[in-house]
Amino acid sequence: MNIETAKTAGFCFGVRRAVELVEQEAERAAGRYPVCTLGPIIHNETVTRRLGKKGVRVIDAPGEAPEKAVVVIRAHGVPLGTTRELDALGLRYVDATCPFVAKVHQIVAQEPPETVVLVAGDPGHPEVKGITGHCRGPFLVVQTGEELEKAVSALENFHKQSYILVAQTTFNRQEWEKTVFSAKKVCTNLKIFDTICKATVVRQKEAGELASRVDAMVVIGGHHSSNTRKLCSICSAHCPTVLVEEAGELVQHRELFARSLLIGITAGASTPVGIIKEVQETMSRMDNISNDMTFEEMLEQSFKSTYNGEKVTGVVTGIKPNEIFVDIGTKHAGFVPMSELTDDPSAKPEDLVKVGDEIELLVVRVNDVEGTAMCSKKRLDQAAGFEKVMSAGETGEILTGIVTEVIKGGILVLSNGIKVFVPASQSGVPRDGDLNVLLRKEVSFKILETNRQRRRALGSISAVLRAQREELAKKFWEEVEVGKVYTGTVKSITNFSVFVDLGGVDGRVGMTDLTWLRVKHPSEVVKVGDTVTVTVKDINTEDKKVSLIYKKSEDNPWEVIKTQHQVGDVVTVRIMSITAFGAFAQIIPGIDGLIHISQIAKERVEKVADKLAVGDVVEAKITELDYEKKRASLSIKALLAEREAAEEAENAAMETVEE
Ligand code: F3S
Repeated sequence: MNIETAKTAGFCFGVRRAVELVEQEAERAAGRYPVCTLGPIIHNETVTRRLGKKGVRVIDAPGEAPEKAVVVIRAHGVPLGTTRELDALGLRYVDATCPFVAKVHQIVAQEPPETVVLVAGDPGHPEVKGITGHCRGPFLVVQTGEELEKAVSALENFHKQSYILVAQTTFNRQEWEKTVFSAKKVCTNLKIFDTICKATVVRQKEAGELASRVDAMVVIGGHHSSNTRKLCSICSAHCPTVLVEEAGELVQHRELFARSLLIGITAGASTPVGIIKEVQETMSRMDNISNDMTFEEMLEQSFKSTYNGEKVTGVVTGIKPNEIFVDIGTKHAGFVPMSELTDDPSAKPEDLVKVGDEIELLVVRVNDVEGTAMCSKKRLDQAAGFEKVMSAGETGEILTGIVTEVIKGGILVLSNGIKVFVPASQSGVPRDGDLNVLLRKEVSFKILETNRQRRRALGSISAVLRAQREELAKKFWEEVEVGKVYTGTVKSITNFSVFVDLGGVDGRVGMTDLTWLRVKHPSEVVKVGDTVTVTVKDINTEDKKVSLIYKKSEDNPWEVIKTQHQVGDVVTVRIMSITAFGAFAQIIPGIDGLIHISQIAKERVEKVADKLAVGDVVEAKITELDYEKKRASLSIKALLAEREAAEEAENAAMETVEE
């Protein structure tokens, strides 16, 4: 006895992609947050168990997802309402809907609400529920042509309606043809979309052909898997057929195998290669059946293509959170998983490409049977980028990149598709600073060291900053002159000085040039990081020192007071300090006038403190403003005498009137 396997057996493109997405998400989560699938990711217990060990939980509805969980939508897709529910619950989700299923969603969703959508498929199947969940108007799900005729004829005014007919992607090809025939019979305004997946067609065709040549068929797959059950029904039309989910179930069919000379094997789209191989080995042991080729080899054959490793130009046709779709100019449906698009874990595909963009790609895996081609942009970029980084190490060229990670001892900068390590000491961030300030920022750096064999490169941002500063300093010294005005940034402050970064050179502002006011510390006037306008007071080209003035002449209080007061004015002043010979009171900020002890009151004052205290607000007369000596005098006594005289004069005038 011999066994022969169908060339197309095991995971289809959509299922393999969905399983890979779940595994990637589980790895990314690493137990830090829960990962759930909305229903089992595929109808295969073994795979579900394996994923369960990696912490992946199966839930039936979005509401069952634990807090902060990432929910993976399986290849079957879901109704629109489900994704809306996920959004409403604030849950992150990974959409692993097979692109071929998503295409059916798109077709039905584009139809106006009055069109009746006819879906050929199993009404209880999640894929069909997902499809009808994207319909904007009425829909009918039928499993046969007769059902369709009956259902459509029962509709009111059925001959006046517009219809479209689509199929569940795994619908039986022969039944589809019958359904189309029936649809054309009863629907006058009908558009037909053959949405049966090519992988399904090929698989079913091969299974039928094989079943017609062998004595018995073994179909491997989940007992609940619709596409596996369809394979069974196709095969059983030709020969005795058994369905097994795993090798252990074979023993029940020993009798059938014993009377068969040639046994055919096929497997459903959600059957892992490992299980197919196990079934084959078990069958070989059971009946000593010879087999020239392993299943792995056969499957491998179906993946081979002349395009593997080729460089192609792809046009972006669609963008999903986890991948992009590209037209690579062949019959293959090209796609680039996110992991093959970039190395930046926080990047989003829509930030990197847009629909219509042309991008250079490397074809990584072609599946001629399913008509798909997995491509990589990252690998091409990395090859070119690596050479660019190596050459920058030799030429000293300045590179730019985005800081993607802060790691122990430094940061990683993604430049030309290559991660370059920049030690903390070369990052330009002060020793005790936080490297996170650079995260997601674009930086310029030089390559200090490279290791071609280990594909490593070490960079320095400081080297670029230093060179930039030197360049700026050179220009500064060429152009600087006394009186020139600069805008700079306050870099540091000491007890008596402020240092201002003028761009390549730091200048110093002394206390007397900082403010007209009396302050205890420069920080009362400016703070580190302030942008300030300063005037060059003095330059020392030998020592490379620059003195600066920050205070403005128009703020000079002796100029300001000229416009506000004159001798003889009565002003309200605040006592600022007390001495043995008098008190100083602020006339305007920056000018304190002396109220001599003899001018505090009409009578003799023994001690200033008997009459005045710091903080008191009093009225006084300006008796002197000496602009030369920058001296001002005030008198309360003069004001009082003046008021008394005025009062007396007033009283005298009143007496005269009374007489
Ligand atoms: Fe997709 Fe076809 Fe498989 S529709 S999930 S590739 S059977």
